[in-house]
Formats: sequence, C-alpha cells, structure tokens
Amino acid sequence: MTGASHFNEMAAVWDSPEKIQLMKRLADKTRKVLNLTESVDMMDFGCGTGLFGLELADKAKTFLGVDTSEGMLDAFNKKTVDADHISSKKLDLEKETIDRSFDLIVSSMAFHHLSSPMSMIGKMKNILRPGGKLAIVDLDKEDGTFHSNNEGMGVKHFGFTELEMQVWAQEAGMTLNHTIINEVYKNNKTYRQFLAVFF
Ligand SMILES: C[S@@+](CC[C@H](N)C(=O)[O-])C[C@H]1O[C@@H](n2cnc3c(N)ncnc32)[C@H](O)[C@@H]1O
Repeated sequence: MTGASHFNEMAAVWDSPEKIQLMKRLADKTRKVLNLTESVDMMDFGCGTGLFGLELADKAKTFLGVDTSEGMLDAFNKKTVDADHISSKKLDLEKETIDRSFDLIVSSMAFHHLSSPMSMIGKMKNILRPGGKLAIVDLDKEDGTFHSNNEGMGVKHFGFTELEMQVWAQEAGMTLNHTIINEVYKNNKTYRQFLAVFF
C-alpha cells in the first residue's frame, strides 16, 4: 500500500474517538496561538476528513480543504455539504499550483508526507496575502516509531526540529514562531507535536 492508497483505505474509519479528541485539542491550541478575531480566507492543506481544520472554520470567510486522497475528501465533503463557504479540491500542491490566495493556510500532520517541506513553505508563501500566516502542526523530531508502517503510510520524515524549520523560514524570508502544543503517549514513549507559525 502506498501513502495515497493508505489514506483512501483508511478514510471510512479515520474519525475514531481518539483522533477526534486529539485533533480538537490541537485545533483549540492553534486557535489560541493565532488569536483569530476576524473572518479570513483559509486553506487547510492535507485536510483529510477535516478533523483539524474544520474546528477553525467558524473563523473562515471561505475555507478550502486540499488533499490528494479522494477517500478523505469524500468524507470531508459529506461533513460540509451544507456549508456554502466551505469547499474542497483534490490537488497535490507539491506538483501542481493553485490560482487563489489566502489570509491563512493551516495544515495538520501532513508535512511529514512531503518530499520537500522547505519548498512547500516557499510555495505557500507565494499564495499568501500580505500579512498572512501559515500554521503548521506536526510531529517534533521522533525516532521513526510514531507510525506503525512508515513506508506503507507514506511517511517521508520522522518529524522536524525547530532548527530545521528556522532554515525553512529563512529561505522563504519569513519569521517562525514555534511552540510545542501537545504530547502523545504511546509505545511507552512521549511524542511531541508542534505548532509552527510562519509569517
Ligand atoms: C495524517 S493525515 C491528516 C489529516 C488531517 N489534516 C487531520 O489532521 O486529521 C495527512 C493527510 O495529508 C494528505 N496529503 C499527503 N500528501 C499530500 C500532498 N502532497 N498534498 C495534499 N495532501 C496530502 C493525505 O492524503 C492525508 O489526508
């Protein structure tokens, strides 16, 4: 199974009670750090079924969920069918471009699937409006044991250090605000999750 087919296979059972609770917690922390007060045009990159991003959609004037997995997007679309300001697009932003701009791009647990996360920051900066922000949630550097099958699940990075994200920010001419916002306990280990805000 490859990364894309993994998510298509998993889409129907993705929203477990544990994942719903975890993503809500991460979104609540993100909301606080971003201090969102006004409506923004928002993109959720690697939106999946929307567990993380849709928690923030009340602050969106428009909300676009972007993902490469048709199965995940089907689940996302079922949840948002009645929300006129929310739409989705099947798109691989590493290979394609998007003809829209945003005030805020959020992303949760998708960057570790990218071939070049640093290039993605540059690409996202180009579709960000002046004063806009990128808010990336992912794993702090880990030892490769967080996912049960890295190759099958399309995991290309075992988390990221703050230092390497400082380099991404420098390359893109942006500033980084890095915070550890959560800890996950499994495999008798503690894995940390960060929120990286680029602006
Ligand atoms: C671990 S899931 C996280 C889903 C959601 N953000 C959440 O927090 O519940 C990662 C998602 O990123 C998507 N993804 C992986 N690579 C991608 C890419 N290059 N472009 C867009 N989406 C991608 C996958 O299809 C999957 O839905």
